[in-house]
Amino acid sequence: MSSTSSSRIDLRDHVQDQDLSEEYLSSSSRDYSAGSSPLTTPALSDEEFDFDVPSEDALLAPTQAPADGSEKYIMVIGGLGYIGSHTTLELLREGHNVIVVDNLSNSYKTVLKNVRMLAAHHCKVNSVPMPRLRFFRIDYRSKAMHVLLERYSNLVMTVDATSGKQVVSYQSRIAGVIHFAAYKSVVESIQQPLRYYRNNVCGLVNLLQELERFNIRNFIFSSSATVYGSKANAGLPLKEEDLIHHQVKTQNEAGETTIVEPTIEGLSCPYARTKYFGEAILADVAEADPDWRIVALRYFNPVGCDPSGVLGESPRGEPTNLFPVLTQVLKGDRSNLNVFGSDWPTRDGTAIRDFIHVLDVARGHIAALNWNSKKGNGFSTFNLGSGTGTTVLEAVRSLEQAAGREIPLALVDRRPGDVGMCVASTERAAKELGWSTRESITKCAADLWNYVSKVALRS
Ligand code: UD1
Repeated sequence: MSSTSSSRIDLRDHVQDQDLSEEYLSSSSRDYSAGSSPLTTPALSDEEFDFDVPSEDALLAPTQAPADGSEKYIMVIGGLGYIGSHTTLELLREGHNVIVVDNLSNSYKTVLKNVRMLAAHHCKVNSVPMPRLRFFRIDYRSKAMHVLLERYSNLVMTVDATSGKQVVSYQSRIAGVIHFAAYKSVVESIQQPLRYYRNNVCGLVNLLQELERFNIRNFIFSSSATVYGSKANAGLPLKEEDLIHHQVKTQNEAGETTIVEPTIEGLSCPYARTKYFGEAILADVAEADPDWRIVALRYFNPVGCDPSGVLGESPRGEPTNLFPVLTQVLKGDRSNLNVFGSDWPTRDGTAIRDFIHVLDVARGHIAALNWNSKKGNGFSTFNLGSGTGTTVLEAVRSLEQAAGREIPLALVDRRPGDVGMCVASTERAAKELGWSTRESITKCAADLWNYVSKVALRS
């Protein structure tokens, strides 16, 4: 049974950029086959993005059957950002239909075009149909999100087992949601804590409520190794059980039960706390309602980009992370890299991080989605890291090798809030998700340099 309830929410109220408004407002040839009728949500378009110039690959990729209202989608919120765009691309390459929700606050419209082009190329080469890719430029916190979720839902009638009464509920065509849309600058979070809490925490709570309304309970959350706080400084690979949200009962070798209480240590900034609170909220939600299947993926240091050199990391503001700063130096936009701290207790005095190729991170999301659908149960956490520690200087050297030139450095004081070492234990992800990294730091550097050289050629 299809929804016939009417909605008063108009997406036009939420479109922020006139330049893009036609993506929502044009109403020709809509697919109203399921969910809601043209009368219920007149302004909502799920048209594929209209490209100025369709690529040859997009035209030649085998096409799929027309939509009949039964297709399943993965919704990627923040799907055009750095990790989001690579994950969207991998999902398409793996044959998933994708709905991208992004307000372009830290990404660009051209990213969608590039993702689609790369996916179409993959489909053409492998003679497989191109999955559906829908794009909605909306803020996931706006009321437009409700309209969008309704649009992808059917109303179904079931009989309540206890009362025998007929119950009407939503059945969504969105099989899972990956949520990337959070702010991630440590420095900014210290200057604007409320903005960070409003988006990363309040936004998450509202989103979960909205998803519950539509019976979508398969959720992947972008977390970060930052939740381990100063536990990272113990000098050991970080295990997921180093940060838990509820009591855990374990048995020691003698068979005695011990209870491990949740503890946190040295969360260094509001950004870190938003990720910690996000996880804690998700753990509570899953505890209260066992139908939820939630995975928090704790990223270590995602770097690199798709080997095509077409997708990369291009934050809108001033970059503060190591590789984006190095990119600026290579492009000539910055004279040198300031190395924050050369007195850490490490092999060359610079801090150690676990750099992981962004495509490995993207594949980690697909592994988590698959796992969640088959074995997911309540709230689970997984590290996405390589397990290998690389110093800042070693990372710089790998990029110098890829670029074939020296990167000017200045050794300066430690950055407030930094930890000396942060490396993942990879056991749980390997054992449970069957996922581990494929790429090395050398490959990360080579792909990044490929991207930088292509950007230089384009501009
Ligand atoms: C930080 C956050 C992490 C967050 C990530 C993405 C902490 C401890 N870490 O990671 O949670 O997910 O940002 O925003 O809060 N470096 C330089 N010069 C630079 C830039 C960086 O030497 O110009 C050094 C840093 O001091 C650090 C290493 O490079 O030792 C990596 O820095 P960065 O890329 O910012 O990532 P993290 O600090 O590890």
